Amino acid sequence: MQKRDLLTPLDFSKEELDELFDRADDIRLHPEKYAHACEGKKMATCFFEPSTRTRLSHETAMLNLGGKVMGFPSGNVSSATKGETVADTARVISCFADIMVIRHPKEGAAAVAAHYASIPVINAGDGGHQHPTQTLTDLLTIRTLRGSLDNFTIGLCGDLKFGRTVHSLINALVRYQNVKFIFISPSELRVPDYITDMLNDRGIPYKECIRLEDVIPELNILYMTRVQKERFFNEEDYVRLKDFYVLNRAKLRAAKPDMYILHPLPRVNEIAADVDDDPRAAYFKQVQFGVYVREALILKLLNIDTEAL
Ligand code: NCD
Repeated sequence: MQKRDLLTPLDFSKEELDELFDRADDIRLHPEKYAHACEGKKMATCFFEPSTRTRLSHETAMLNLGGKVMGFPSGNVSSATKGETVADTARVISCFADIMVIRHPKEGAAAVAAHYASIPVINAGDGGHQHPTQTLTDLLTIRTLRGSLDNFTIGLCGDLKFGRTVHSLINALVRYQNVKFIFISPSELRVPDYITDMLNDRGIPYKECIRLEDVIPELNILYMTRVQKERFFNEEDYVRLKDFYVLNRAKLRAAKPDMYILHPLPRVNEIAADVDDDPRAAYFKQVQFGVYVREALILKLLNIDTEAL
């Protein structure tokens, strides 16, 4: 059987995503059923860029499934510092592990790894490009909280230019019915043209605006993001833009009582701590959903027979 990788959310059909989310629900409800599902399997987490959640939630997912984990948390402790290419690293890791998770600052790095690896590769973020497992997390969170991935308005707010989680999420949501997009950003951090071109081609409605206050009453989901400091060419621009949006309790008064606030995390200043106790704040729940969905993903890519569990 041909190996499968996850490089962008579109690598899975909508039906496959539904199955994955159903599996994640079952894992949430019956974790004990899956506790030995990956016994004897090893996952390598190869992180060339910083991470807390993405690396540790993949590792937690594999440990919850009874598998083992190994890896490195930064490029400076790997042979990349000696000049090894991603292609060679991928070939080497294929001799050690059954599945590989890679995060890299260069767009397309995960695709190169997938090409050279003989094992399934999960893209855990490639530069400003894609972050599909965060998207699986976001979709499962929205599906669980709202009961469906159709018929809602989502406001994406903050760094829409460099935020890879935003790019992946938009890519995935266009396949659902009647999802309206509102892009809220300073003009320097607008969503890239290739995304608005894609929305125009597909006839999917969206609007762009600068002030969160102007649109917050319309939203069912507010997806906040951090200004991506590491992708700026100069510090001054970052400093000028970093506190452009600060969501606080006062601003939330104008929002719907059943709007949910998501954030891929880490947050810096864009959500004040006084929002954390609001019942609409879903960003820590989202982290937990990220573990269930990554468990479901590992089972799928390793072709584990879940009927036999
Ligand atoms: C995101 C990322 O790495 O793109 N973090 C994450 O994986 N949850 C978002 C960010 O760093 O701002």
